[in-house]
Amino acid sequence: MISVVVIGSGNVANHLILAFCENKSIDLVQVYSRKTSLFPDCLPVSKITHDLSNLAQADVYIIAVSDNAIAEISSKLPFENRLVVHTSGSMPIDILDKKNHRGVFYPLQTFSKETKIKFSQVPICIEATNDKDLETLHELASKVVKNTYTISSEQRKSLHVAAVFVCNFVNHLYKIGNDICVEKYVPFEILKPLIEETANKINFLSPSQAQTGPAKRNDTKTIEEHLNSLTNENQKEIYKLLTQSIINHG
Ligand SMILES: NC(=O)c1ccc[n+]([C@@H]2O[C@H](COP(=O)([O-])OP(=O)(O)OC[C@H]3O[C@@H](n4cnc5c(N)ncnc54)[C@H](OP(=O)(O)O)[C@@H]3O)[C@@H](O)[C@H]2O)c1
Repeated sequence: MISVVVIGSGNVANHLILAFCENKSIDLVQVYSRKTSLFPDCLPVSKITHDLSNLAQADVYIIAVSDNAIAEISSKLPFENRLVVHTSGSMPIDILDKKNHRGVFYPLQTFSKETKIKFSQVPICIEATNDKDLETLHELASKVVKNTYTISSEQRKSLHVAAVFVCNFVNHLYKIGNDICVEKYVPFEILKPLIEETANKINFLSPSQAQTGPAKRNDTKTIEEHLNSLTNENQKEIYKLLTQSIINHG
């Protein structure tokens, strides 16, 4: 049995709480939130604290708060020499206060409180400053997910940049697609099977192999017509930049 305290009440904290509640070999001893928050039903009210000085004893403390607040919270913890980890993709391990053993427990997924996900499919990237702590984090992660990766702070930073490209930027492109549809009174719904198939294809092909479209074919007339049809300058710039990137780099 491995015991855990979760610090935070946001998207990641909620998904971790659900995953830990559902696992009989994890003892979720306590959750800290700075104010009253809504938590999954599986968490008894008696396990919630709003006072950092009240934190219970546990094998692992997971700080799942905004990146900006991680250092502050870790320095406010009222104990030493315990294993304290954060869940950020972009923050280095040494942002955590040295008075405790430091680590990272980064679940690489886009989490919103409102949406359900298959937590077991989420890759967890772990990091620690010694083998024993790494083993503890590996043990904890393996109880809730299929794939755990040992990733350094430097690798994680790059992984996070890659994640911004494949998730946040792609989602922003959905937004532009939606705006274009709305402008022409076409339902965005029509594009959803295309979006799904595009995401599904990279399970079988590399991104370069999976690429299609006018830039890949170098269909210059079509590209020109697309650019002429766009009235929004921002959309035009993004179209040009991405088209050139596909032409140059596949
Ligand atoms: N969401 C994702 O998709 C995702 C994926 C992987 C990793 N992460 C990482 O996981 C961490 C949490 O992200 P999130 O999306 O769960 O954030 P979030 O939903 O915005 O929640 C942020 C949490 O931080 C707390 N907080 C902020 N400032 C605080 C302070 N000064 N003192 C105490 N608590 C404070 C908030 O408390 P209040 O409710 O009281 O404001 C809230 O519980 C971040 O490091 C993020 O980079 C996020």
